[in-house]
Amino acid sequence: MTAIWIDAKLSDANARQALYDGDIVILAPTKASLEMVALGQELLEQAFGPHDPRKIHDHKTPEEVASVLAKMKPIFIHHPEHKRLIPQLMEEHGVDIDRLYFDVPRMRSAYPSHFLTSGIAYAFHPHRDTWYSAPQCQLNWWFPIYPLHTNNAMGFYPRYFNEPVANNSEIYNYYEWNTKNRASAAEYVKADTREQPKPQQSLEPVTVRYLPPPGGIVLFSGSQLHESVPNITDLARYSIDFRTVHLDDLKQRRGAPNVDNRSTGTTMRDYLNARTLQHLPDDVIRMYDDGTAIVGRVLNYNDATKAPVAAE
Ligand SMILES: [Fe+2]
Repeated sequence: MTAIWIDAKLSDANARQALYDGDIVILAPTKASLEMVALGQELLEQAFGPHDPRKIHDHKTPEEVASVLAKMKPIFIHHPEHKRLIPQLMEEHGVDIDRLYFDVPRMRSAYPSHFLTSGIAYAFHPHRDTWYSAPQCQLNWWFPIYPLHTNNAMGFYPRYFNEPVANNSEIYNYYEWNTKNRASAAEYVKADTREQPKPQQSLEPVTVRYLPPPGGIVLFSGSQLHESVPNITDLARYSIDFRTVHLDDLKQRRGAPNVDNRSTGTTMRDYLNARTLQHLPDDVIRMYDDGTAIVGRVLNYNDATKAPVAAE
């Protein structure tokens, strides 16, 4: 059973427990989320003007679009306003920001499927973020920049939250990925040859798609099986997502059940405290280290300055 909580004003502790049990939380837009949306729109419209960013595939080649995104997305990701807006967004939802850690927000783009679905606009196959070395208590906050359509949204496979999926997550080590894939994702215009964890079985092809308005949030466990829906509309989809972890849950190893993840390494060095912007304490990071953090490997996303992918 998957329950969907819609703007339910849950306490933060109750919301986290519901999410670890496989529920989904939908949140109405707030001042902070709408400011992030406005920032995303502004950057997109500057980059692609005078054209509508949602129709840019009618005006530019995939190579041209990939090249524009390669410049614009890092500006969005590292924009200083997010360090004010994400803590504000957390407080708007009753989260104790002294104990909350977040990573930099990504902007995603999903173009009509004949156009550009690799590299910088990678269309994510079904996956759990935990297959990409996220801790079991990671939560994902996802919201659209423009109105969604059924076929350019995210798809969730709720039945597999508690059910193992045959997969090859054992191929993925976070540090190895950061080290090997520092080259710009803009190089992967035609096809993405980077090997990623994927299901190794056929899935029941039933996805649920949540369609909040711009700035409205889909909040879910990083252990949910989810994907970028193949975009068969004629409009590009742009969205924002970032991830959070709660210090108490990390320390007590609370989180979603691990039904099938065998990835190695950890994304623990990516998260910043929402009050102080400091990294997690070393002793907490060490709880999640598995011996693969060896000399010469790039241990976090910001040091792999061009590392393109964290799973949508
Ligand atoms: Fe993801």
